[in-house]
Amino acid sequence: MKEKDYIQKAKEHFGKLLEKQFARIEKMKAEEEFIDYSKLEQLVIGIVGGDGIGPYITEEARKIIEFLLADDIKAGKIVIKNIDGLTIENRARQNKAIPDDVLGELKKCHVILKGPTTTPRAGDPWPNIESANVAMRKELDLFANVRPVQVPEEGIDWVFYRENTEGAYALGSDGIMVNDDLAIDFTVTTYEGSYRIIKAAFDYARKSGKNKLTVVTKANVVKTTDGLFLDIAKEIAKDYPEVEWDDWYIDIMTAKLIDEKRRQDFKVFVLPNLYGDILTDEAAEFQGGVGTAGSANIGKSYAMFEAIHGSAPRMVQEGRAQYADPSSIIRAAGMLLEHIGYQEEASRLQMALDICGNYEKKIVMTGRDTGATGGEYAEYLMDTLQDKNLKERWEDYRAGK
Ligand code: IPM
Ligand code: MG
Repeated sequence: MKEKDYIQKAKEHFGKLLEKQFARIEKMKAEEEFIDYSKLEQLVIGIVGGDGIGPYITEEARKIIEFLLADDIKAGKIVIKNIDGLTIENRARQNKAIPDDVLGELKKCHVILKGPTTTPRAGDPWPNIESANVAMRKELDLFANVRPVQVPEEGIDWVFYRENTEGAYALGSDGIMVNDDLAIDFTVTTYEGSYRIIKAAFDYARKSGKNKLTVVTKANVVKTTDGLFLDIAKEIAKDYPEVEWDDWYIDIMTAKLIDEKRRQDFKVFVLPNLYGDILTDEAAEFQGGVGTAGSANIGKSYAMFEAIHGSAPRMVQEGRAQYADPSSIIRAAGMLLEHIGYQEEASRLQMALDICGNYEKKIVMTGRDTGATGGEYAEYLMDTLQDKNLKERWEDYRAGK
């Protein structure tokens, strides 16, 4: 082909991308308010195992949810639904990030607890399908990725509001290989998409009483898209006079998170997708690594909760899957409970997780047969949850008694 033919082909490809983005913007404009769970007669929680150790650890999380919500499950107010088929084998067979029947099942739920799913990359034995995570965020329009990080001893109490459907991810699988010499990817920022995530972050900063918000971009270089994101933040900030806000560039922000003198001043962050992806891994490291972090993916109609560690296929191959540590997916289950209005249960679960995993440690998991199984760990948690003095016990541990 000649140069002008490559250009023509690329233009056509680009035109189609624009059409899709305009359609997405229309959808966002037509969006309603956040669903009100308290008004539902029946709330459906979907449990998706995923790949590798996923089915093992989500099974333990399911037990904990069923334990904590036993009365409402019996009364029919809560329904727990297992959803199979979001495995790499099935996705590869159907050549789809999320097979249609699985997506149909997901859409019948209000909230979802999801185990880790394998993301194929170039060179893997799998077809290069889009990440199931990324696809689910797009399909269910889960635009707010909320990731808390806490290290109380160091005064760290951060909550990240990562934009979850746009930026470098929106067209991450739709770049243009113009010819052998030229590859182009896109980053997408829309007014609607930025507005809703920034507003959600301001709302949270206000509602939580933290009253402090940091907007992170690279608007000095990525002028058009990040520039728009920052402009919208400035506009929204006017409606939140009680929230003190500032803006940082992603490079210096990354550095400031390790500055012991400054980092406890930051409280709530809002940032475009890729910066949020990177910064939240860095942040989680202070708390003990990405394996310890839970993550909420929230949209107006659906919400999905997950652990942010991988599927550890090697543990399955070596026959050690039952020793995989379920604590971060159980923490994610705690976020789910809080999101649907079970604050009391969620906070008891957080305390039990702290006691069993960080303080008392009567049972320890090592990832192999030298330690406990996930099932034994879940039993330990449920025993602890039954303690009438759970809160006192937790406070004593925290005070170092
Ligand atoms: C995350 C993960 C995903 C992402 C991957 C698995 C596609 O890193 O949830 O942060 O990049 O968003
Ligand atoms: Mg990530």
